[in-house]
Amino acid sequence: MSSRPNPRGRPTTSARRTTVLIGAVSATLLTGTLFHPMVANAATTLGAAAAQSGRYFGTAISTGRLNDSTYTRIANAEFNMVTAENEMKIDATEPNQNQFNFSNADRVFDWATQNGKKVRGHTLAWHSQQPNWMQNMSGTALRSAMKNHITKVMQHYQGKIPYWDVVNEAYDDSSGGRRSSNLQSTGNDWIEDAFKTARAADSTAKLCYNDYNTDNSTWAKTKGVYAMVKDFKARGVPIDCVGFQSHFNSGSPYPSNYRANLESFAALGVDVQITELDIEGSGQTQANTFANVTKDCLAIPRCNGITVWGVRDSDSWRASGTPLLFDNSGNKKAAYTSVLAALNAAPPVDPTDPTTPTTPTTPTTPTTPTTPTDPTDPTDPTDPTGDGCTATLTVQDSWNGGFVASVKVSAASSISGWTVGLTLPNGSSISNVWNGTRSGTSVSNVAWNGSVGSGRSAEFGFQGTGSASGVSAASCTAR
Ligand code: G3I
Repeated sequence: MSSRPNPRGRPTTSARRTTVLIGAVSATLLTGTLFHPMVANAATTLGAAAAQSGRYFGTAISTGRLNDSTYTRIANAEFNMVTAENEMKIDATEPNQNQFNFSNADRVFDWATQNGKKVRGHTLAWHSQQPNWMQNMSGTALRSAMKNHITKVMQHYQGKIPYWDVVNEAYDDSSGGRRSSNLQSTGNDWIEDAFKTARAADSTAKLCYNDYNTDNSTWAKTKGVYAMVKDFKARGVPIDCVGFQSHFNSGSPYPSNYRANLESFAALGVDVQITELDIEGSGQTQANTFANVTKDCLAIPRCNGITVWGVRDSDSWRASGTPLLFDNSGNKKAAYTSVLAALNAAPPVDPTDPTTPTTPTTPTTPTTPTTPTDPTDPTDPTDPTGDGCTATLTVQDSWNGGFVASVKVSAASSISGWTVGLTLPNGSSISNVWNGTRSGTSVSNVAWNGSVGSGRSAEFGFQGTGSASGVSAASCTAR
């Protein structure tokens, strides 16, 4: 394929070839405590190296390559999060209206989960890769169809997908406004309608907005998305994360304000992830840019992980730009080595050391006093239960009348399930829980985050109404 980018880095039309961790990942680092850098044991794979700081390292996976043993060997060894490159898109999962087909989506999901990886869902509402029946719809019929699609697909994977790209690429490339599309024509509230529908469909998933060319804070498109996220947070529209695709090339280069941009989004009270990273180029120049992107994510507590958009250069949608970490033969490139080194240099999360974690680099809302963690000491009087797990609660965001909190569950020795008892101030209540199952004021693990290894942690989050002052994790019971 040819790959001459337009000024914004998108391929010309002719150039188009036309997801422990997770619980442990996200905002767990935002504890408000100062963390001391520690020397990490050098991990030898990207996933293991990222996990040292509580993050993941993922790749896009395509079913068409799952019978390629070099591809699966590398993908299995190196990555611990998977995004289906095309198989969970609307045209693949709902080829005829209200007739769902998950065969290829499940192939990717099963391959990932059977190999111990998490899966990021991609994507539910998008102007592109719509099946013909949807392309021809408009108005209230299209809005209903969109909501039905979100509901049915999320319910198929209920409790099993930690992050969903609910809405993809809804902003115009240069104006800072919305992209014109059939979805946009159903009314400007289509995006928030999509997020509300998604929360109702699977309250365990973190709900993300995902886009490209939102990497440079000065671009109108970035400002448009930023304003939307800020507005959603202010009005309580359920959005948990923003994905930055980060397709870089000479027409759309890695910007010097990339870290600051991620940081400013995280400061709105959302997690951020690098979701489709590829950087055209070669040699040390390419390696340096990959390392810089990696270090930028590592510098931001709410940057949970990085996903590259394919395994080998030849697997890329921009293969001629050699934008990935492995060459066509599956050899590690200089870019691989630089990313691994950057990941290994990150201050690790050490749940056995209560003095660890990071200095939050984003202005955070004040955290409530948290339950202290010393999962290595079951007799620790500060351990609320002493029975194998410790819960640490952090208020991530609060506003007049509501708040969002995350709870980190740390295990002294391996456990297969957990329940956290929450204490809420009078007049406050839980309105929504993700990555956990709620019963009254107790929250237990969901299917994929119950097993917590020795010295590791999982995480869930919840939204509450009322005041956050005094909310705490009072008990943690392991199974
Ligand atoms: O599988 C068919 C094949 O049978 C047929 O012969 C061939 C003819 O064109 O098409 C093949 O399907 C192609 C598919 O990729 C698999 O290779 C589609 O035409 C092609 O449109 C599709 O492109 C995908 C593109 O999204 C579509 O928008 C790319 O693989 C995929 O990497 C790309 O991913 C997107 C993200 O979802 C969103 N962000 C941008 C990113 C890159 O464009």
